[in-house]
Amino acid sequence: MMSKTKIVLAVTGSVAAYKSAEIARRLMDESLSVHVAMTANAEKFITPLTFAALTGNHVLRHGYPAPGDDPMPHITFQRGASLILIAPATANIIGKLANGIADDMLSSMLMASDAPVLVAPAMNANMYNHPSVRKNIETLKQLGAGFIGPATGELACGETGEGKMERVENIVSQVLDRLDLGRDLLGRKILVTAGGAREPIDPVRFIGNRSSGKMGVAIAQAAARRGADVTLVAGAMEIPVPEDIETIYAPTALEMMRTVQERFTDSDVLVMAAAVGDYRARSVASGKIKEKESWDLSLVRNPDIIAKMCALRNKQIVVGFAAETDNAEKSGREKLLRKNMDMIVVNDVSRDDIGFGSDYNEVVIITRSGETIKPQKMSKREIGEIILDRIAGMLTGGYGDRGLVGGRT
Ligand code: PMT
Repeated sequence: MMSKTKIVLAVTGSVAAYKSAEIARRLMDESLSVHVAMTANAEKFITPLTFAALTGNHVLRHGYPAPGDDPMPHITFQRGASLILIAPATANIIGKLANGIADDMLSSMLMASDAPVLVAPAMNANMYNHPSVRKNIETLKQLGAGFIGPATGELACGETGEGKMERVENIVSQVLDRLDLGRDLLGRKILVTAGGAREPIDPVRFIGNRSSGKMGVAIAQAAARRGADVTLVAGAMEIPVPEDIETIYAPTALEMMRTVQERFTDSDVLVMAAAVGDYRARSVASGKIKEKESWDLSLVRNPDIIAKMCALRNKQIVVGFAAETDNAEKSGREKLLRKNMDMIVVNDVSRDDIGFGSDYNEVVIITRSGETIKPQKMSKREIGEIILDRIAGMLTGGYGDRGLVGGRT
């Protein structure tokens, strides 16, 4: 698992400051330790308590320290930070930083730090395009600061134009890119399936399940961050798919089978987090089936995609999930062997607080060599990282987990 990297989030006085709470939370989901500094004006838009509660860390505020407190918080606060993100960044803070002005706690803290700085501006379009602001931005770029956005769109003042703070996910992904947190999957092709099934019965009805797609998307995003070339094969999704990951929709088992098979030969890894429909209607009616007192629906078995891929593979690492309600670990172990996977991630889907739809999961990870890992309940993102740690180890031959599989190179 990634170690806790410290990042300072500097929040200045813009209406976009409310989005900084989401930025803080997303960065924490990435196992970063987030330390928020605020200007006096930022506190007019959002309270320090929000950030303290979210991050669990002390918030650096304006004003001089009280007697007995740390006398030099602008120095100690940013010590050890791997990066400072200013989001939202007003014209004022951009001007101060570009011109070496340190007249409050936040600007003094910025001046005292030698950590890389990323700036996400947020202001009215005319302000953003003012020659002095543009000059300050150019100065900061020359000094090595990175800029994220701004985006063009409807601004808080009602005007439309350039100056809107960049979308939270783009800010977070650029922070992660800049931090370069171990790109150990660089150049690897990873195919990830996510989401549930939609097996049609007629043009109106379908057979489905409760998978939201969160687990698979978390793995796909973590793999992309670690440098992998990721393709997401998405079944029925309850969450948006990441814009920066190639996604192919395949809501039925037959479509998913076709899509996975097409890309499998060229992949290094297949992770099947999708809850594939085990059955489909024997025949799909072309018109809506009329109401009737009772109805016997005839189902046929869908192909077992993961078992078929395991039979076809040569170099690929194949990781499956097991959605269980009873004897989870034992059933998962049997599934691993029966389907001939390299690794299985077992989760208990009878619990409401994990599994289907939740942001959290508690899993048992079992490899072919019999090694069993039981991480505590944690976010699906963190579980994704643990799974990828194992995969990265297998790819570099660090684990002896693959030796038992017949027909491997
Ligand atoms: O999407 P979320 O809301 O985040 O929920 C996550 C999850 C609970 C769906 C996920 O963690 C999970 O358990 N996914 C696998 C669900 C499942 O189909 O489990 P299974 O035990 O029925 O299947 C075992 C493995 O075979 C799975 O990797 C599955 O993708 C694969 N399979 C199943 C049936 C089939 N016809 N073809 C397959 O390849």
